[in-house]
Amino acid sequence: MFSHLQPRPADPILGLSVKFAADTNPNKIDLGAGIYKDAAGNTPVLACVKAAEQFRVDNENTKAYINSMGSALFNEKFTELMLGEHRVIAEKRIRTLSTPGGTGALRIAGEFINSCKPGATIWVSNPTWANHQGVFTAAGLTVKTYPYYDYENNCLDFNGMLEALKDVPAEDAVLIHACCHNPSGMDLNNEQWQQVAELVKEVGFTPVVDMAYQGFGDGLEADAYGLRLMADIVDRMVICGSCSKNFGLYRERIGACSVISASAAESDTVGTILPAIVRVNYSMPPAHGAAIVETILNSAELTQQWYGELAEMRDRINGMRQLLVDKLIENGVQQDFSFITRQKGMFSFLGISKEQVQRIQDESSIYIVGSSRISIAGISPSNVDYLAQSIAKVL
Ligand code: LMR
Repeated sequence: MFSHLQPRPADPILGLSVKFAADTNPNKIDLGAGIYKDAAGNTPVLACVKAAEQFRVDNENTKAYINSMGSALFNEKFTELMLGEHRVIAEKRIRTLSTPGGTGALRIAGEFINSCKPGATIWVSNPTWANHQGVFTAAGLTVKTYPYYDYENNCLDFNGMLEALKDVPAEDAVLIHACCHNPSGMDLNNEQWQQVAELVKEVGFTPVVDMAYQGFGDGLEADAYGLRLMADIVDRMVICGSCSKNFGLYRERIGACSVISASAAESDTVGTILPAIVRVNYSMPPAHGAAIVETILNSAELTQQWYGELAEMRDRINGMRQLLVDKLIENGVQQDFSFITRQKGMFSFLGISKEQVQRIQDESSIYIVGSSRISIAGISPSNVDYLAQSIAKVL
């Protein structure tokens, strides 16, 4: 049965982590996977997470099954985090389920759309997270792209995006990044969100908003602006959230998928379809990550502590954006990289070729995704000089 199998290429992002781990160069730098690192290069467990875990150890009294939707308290608290006190909650038009990470949320969203319209088309931005295409294809959808990033000028191709979205059929879905666009770091501003949300309403396709980095751009509220506006304006949408980055719970696999329906009755029906999709996939989500997040969000004290720790991660990344641009200038780079300071979240594109990315890896042991996406979170005051010199060398 297996004899005909051919090896598959490594994942463009996760494959880099494996190579990085095997590299013995003491100066190596990991700018591959989107994972926060502190100035010492560690990905620490947040103190609020440690406190929540201690609380669980002391108070958890069963490991019995929950259900396919996951923890009701997590679902309630996480929905509030994403949407604030939005009317869709009072109107009982939203169903949220806990998922194994943000990727799990995307897969459930894809399967939900496929159950609404088998083989439906979903449009993703060009570029987008390397795994979107695979996840949606695996869920049975057809994936197409709309323009998003202007590679020549390192900015948003907003007109291209709007023009393309005008022609999207009403029965299709469109994935939009809520904030901290992965991989470009180029976000819509508030006016642009208004225009996009009005266009969605007019054209009638279903928006799927992917919010994997809430809190890593301008802050928890500001980063949710577009998503909340979309929920104000359209009747139906899907939201995919993640706790991997903002709670630092990468390996716990906790995220959420929410579906907003046009009415409470429609939402009741959706509420029967989502658990059915989960049941035949993985039956029910893992509980530990959800338990940590709900414990934090259910405690005013732990929530305050989390705000502080999240702000620290965000501020460090933003500081590294400026520092990298300064160091490139210091190392004689003529090319303008100031766009890096205008981008948000963990990522930016360097805008260099695949060959240059490979040279940086081969010559300097600096690991960058082939598209030239760098994870800014991997930069620190102690490695930025070496990084800037290595980039300068291949330009
Ligand atoms: C990334 O884009 O690097 C992260 O979301 C990690 C992943 O799973 O790809």
